[in-house]
Amino acid sequence: MRTGSLNDQATSFQRYGLVAQALHWFAALLLFGLLATNAMREIVSDPEWAGAFLRLHMSLGILIFLVTIARIGWRKVSPPPALVDAPKWSQAAANIGHILLNLATLLIPISGYLRIASAGYPANFFGVEIPSILGEMPWLHQLTESVTHGDPMKLFILALVGLHILAALWHQYVWKDNVMRRMLPW
Ligand code: HEM
Ligand code: HEM
Repeated sequence: MRTGSLNDQATSFQRYGLVAQALHWFAALLLFGLLATNAMREIVSDPEWAGAFLRLHMSLGILIFLVTIARIGWRKVSPPPALVDAPKWSQAAANIGHILLNLATLLIPISGYLRIASAGYPANFFGVEIPSILGEMPWLHQLTESVTHGDPMKLFILALVGLHILAALWHQYVWKDNVMRRMLPW
């Protein structure tokens, strides 16, 4: 008996599950929050406010780290749908892009912690202090400030997320393959 046609219909459009969707949009929101809190910290002149924005920045950064671990764990529990039908190079680019996004949201928070901890200061997670396990380490502070948690990292994450958003829009409006609906509940 041929069941292929039924299966074909059932699998022709598959979206990410609700948990994967919720975690994805929460991580996206956190990333914009991280850039906004950093920008606010630079804009405000009052050191009290700058400190408050930095503490919020650190809290959101630790949260995105935890959310990324949850997302990777959830992928094992509930595997994502296969990529949409598209040229091989585009599927490879999507896979690499998704891996880099996940790696970035794991490694950038670690480098953020190293940046504050290597200055000898504690980090902060919504009011809970996380002590510096390093003490002052000027060479590490210099490295994180100038590379791994400084301008080059900022450019890297902006370019990566920018490309990711452009790719989603390209799929949606040029190739019209409904990729956006895969990440939306409706
Ligand atoms: C407005 C911003 C964003 C839009 C419109 C967007 C859109 C999408 C879409 C449509 C997909 C599904 C791709 C597919 O069908 O295979 C997706 C997947 C994905 N997105 Fe985004 N995204 C945004 C922001 C972000 C951000 C900020 C991150 C990183 C924190 C991110 C990380 C990922 C990852 C890792 C996947 C692969 C699926 C998964 O593991 O959950 N996205 N995105
Ligand atoms: C994905 C997560 C994160 C992103 C995207 C991010 C992004 C940024 C950016 C763009 C800057 C400005 C860099 C510069 O121009 O010098 C910055 C600064 C900073 N971030 Fe993060 N960050 C994240 C997580 C964290 C975490 C988890 C911590 C600490 C626990 C942290 C602590 C800091 C500190 C201490 C600074 C420097 C503030 C200053 O100049 O006084 N960040 N971050």
